[in-house]
Amino acid sequence: MSTAPTSGDAEVIAARDRVELLRGEILRHNHLYHALDAPEIADAEYDELFNELRRLEADFPELASADSPTQTVGAVPGRTFAVVEHRLRMLSLGNAFNAEELIAWRQRAADLLDREEWTYVTEPKIDGLAIALVYERGRLVQAATRGDGRAGEDVTANLRMIDGVPNQLSGSPPPRFEVRGEVFMPKAGFETMNGEIAEENQHRREQGRAELTLYANPRNAAAGSVRQKDASVTATRPLSIGIYQLGWCEDVVTPDTHWETLEWLAEFGFPTTPEAARHDGIESALAACEQWTQRRDTQPFEMDGVVVKVDDLGLQADLGIVGREPRWAIAWKFPPQEASTVLEQILVNVGRTGSINPYARLRPVRVGGVQVTNATLHNLDDIRRKDIREGDTVVIRRAGEVIPQVVRPVLERRPEDSVEWEMPDTCPSCDARTVRNPDDAMYYCSNRACPSILQRSLEHFAGRGAMDIRGLGERQIALLLQHRLIEDAADIFDLPHKREQMGRIPSLGQKVKRDGEDSYEPGKRIENLIAAIERSKSRGLAFLLVGLGIRHVGGENASLLADEFGSLDAILLAPAETLAAVDGVGPIIADSIVDWAMDGDHWWLVHRLQQAGVEDEIQRSEEDEPAETPLEGLRFVLTGRFASMTRPQAEAQLKSLGAAVGSSVSKNTSALFAGEAAGSKRRKAESLGLAIWDEDQLVQVLERPGLAAEWLREAAAAEPSGAD
Ligand code: IVH
Repeated sequence: MSTAPTSGDAEVIAARDRVELLRGEILRHNHLYHALDAPEIADAEYDELFNELRRLEADFPELASADSPTQTVGAVPGRTFAVVEHRLRMLSLGNAFNAEELIAWRQRAADLLDREEWTYVTEPKIDGLAIALVYERGRLVQAATRGDGRAGEDVTANLRMIDGVPNQLSGSPPPRFEVRGEVFMPKAGFETMNGEIAEENQHRREQGRAELTLYANPRNAAAGSVRQKDASVTATRPLSIGIYQLGWCEDVVTPDTHWETLEWLAEFGFPTTPEAARHDGIESALAACEQWTQRRDTQPFEMDGVVVKVDDLGLQADLGIVGREPRWAIAWKFPPQEASTVLEQILVNVGRTGSINPYARLRPVRVGGVQVTNATLHNLDDIRRKDIREGDTVVIRRAGEVIPQVVRPVLERRPEDSVEWEMPDTCPSCDARTVRNPDDAMYYCSNRACPSILQRSLEHFAGRGAMDIRGLGERQIALLLQHRLIEDAADIFDLPHKREQMGRIPSLGQKVKRDGEDSYEPGKRIENLIAAIERSKSRGLAFLLVGLGIRHVGGENASLLADEFGSLDAILLAPAETLAAVDGVGPIIADSIVDWAMDGDHWWLVHRLQQAGVEDEIQRSEEDEPAETPLEGLRFVLTGRFASMTRPQAEAQLKSLGAAVGSSVSKNTSALFAGEAAGSKRRKAESLGLAIWDEDQLVQVLERPGLAAEWLREAAAAEPSGAD
């Protein structure tokens, strides 16, 4: 640049510098992500860079350029595979991060179409990689990755190996056509596969051989598995596909709407995107997006959002494409679950079983809408496997309510002087030696009387999942132990006789002024605690069993055991084979219970709990039972989405009231509960003349089950000829 900038140019020059920097960075990250399957930054951080670039290009049109990453998709294809030119460009999607952005997208479309409303389809946005499949005379002849959108890689041999990708279609498919979909690795398969790679690496390390790469997430695993040079390796990977679009199609009339296209493709044997739904207006589509945000973790695959599409293909054509994105679809993006930050220190605490649990102290960072400062690190093997060190920049992931996890280090940002972390050889709480248990790769405190073990066991006993004694948390337990008012769980039930002593502990009792001096006495807090302790006595056998803290005995199997044996004594006296024979229990849990019951101290504890009046038997109240199943004999089917509860929740409640809940509509169905976007089941129920009830009616039936029979009687009376 030889001319001196005028004052107005200064801003443009600054913007140009930033634009160039962003373009370079985005291209580098595209390459890391698409070609090397080794991203350095979280998706949300990438989106931020991308959006900033897009904003700058919009504000400074003179800086726009056809080869900006905002105008092209992904990275150019890698070198290992033949190049396939796409007959129709493979597009990307614009994003909406909130309701306003979704509504604004709709408004732009409404203005262009000069029309108020239309139908939409929502589908999970599966986090995998896009693939185009070409079929000729019903046979798969070509599979290609997206690449840069214009040309991708020929991965036909690999795609033939994936279950769910039909090699031969059924029905009467068009002579030549292309479908598009997302290849993905289900979460469970991803965990198993990474576990196997880690195991293999253990051998390789011992033999001094090069190690295999662990995949950072299911998306990278899917991409890496599809781009294997040897298709037999792809065959061993747990991959699936969801078809979401018809690409091009020769010589036949195709459906007019996206929804019908999905149904049409399913007829030829394609697995189309699961849980797609059709909506009459944007409000309903938005509600679906918001519901998905709440239940993103309920699917067996990773979702990074919801795709909202205009249903009518004629309207899609009218709307067209801008840059690399269609105007007829948009991705509703979930708040990010991953972020990177610095792992400042690796610390350990002692668990209820005496396990020494490493965790990461992080430089505070926001993930999925919450501030995170700690993350779990599981055990030493896991730390070694992921190669995590103090001082590393690490990727943190938070899924649902789960404790944040450290996913991986960003090796490029590792400080030069970093060293491997070592497990402390003494317990941080009592200084006793730590020992490694080869069975579970955990280190344990060797001191059975370690004060931390006692503290954690009592927290567990009083916790929500067990006896649920409100007001008896970590701090109160520590104080009561410190003042020797309790020494084990049974002592808790003695506390109602120790009001005065408790009252004298400053942070438990209530402060009062007596003769001008501060003193403490039992106050409301202690009365509440005592009430909670009394209440917990009738919490029931299953929760008591959980509270005892027997290894592997958790909420679900404790209920099964309680139902089967009816009393604590019966469970603790049962031989291992009898315990293991209970459906859902099995030998590991059975052996653990028998081991626990071998210890005399444990029987002494049980005896004192029983003496204190803690309920240790199932209370079967005979007169309750018939009233509990008022829907006995009725058979329901649920379809569509409900705003006030999920379908599984509704099903569970109906079942608990004695109803049978089926998955398909037949003439044996008593009534169909149809929520939002109910489709083929509703039509079938209509054709059979069945009762069809809406969400309001579902809520009413759950509250007053007697209504169901009443409505069915009324319907039968209104239509005496019947439907069969
Ligand atoms: S429709 C116009 N539907 O998301 C582009 N895409 O960010 C057509 N994806 O390239 C895409 N699930 O790889 C569509 N149900 C779904 C999807 C989906 C995942 C991916 C796809 C696409 C990317 C766009």
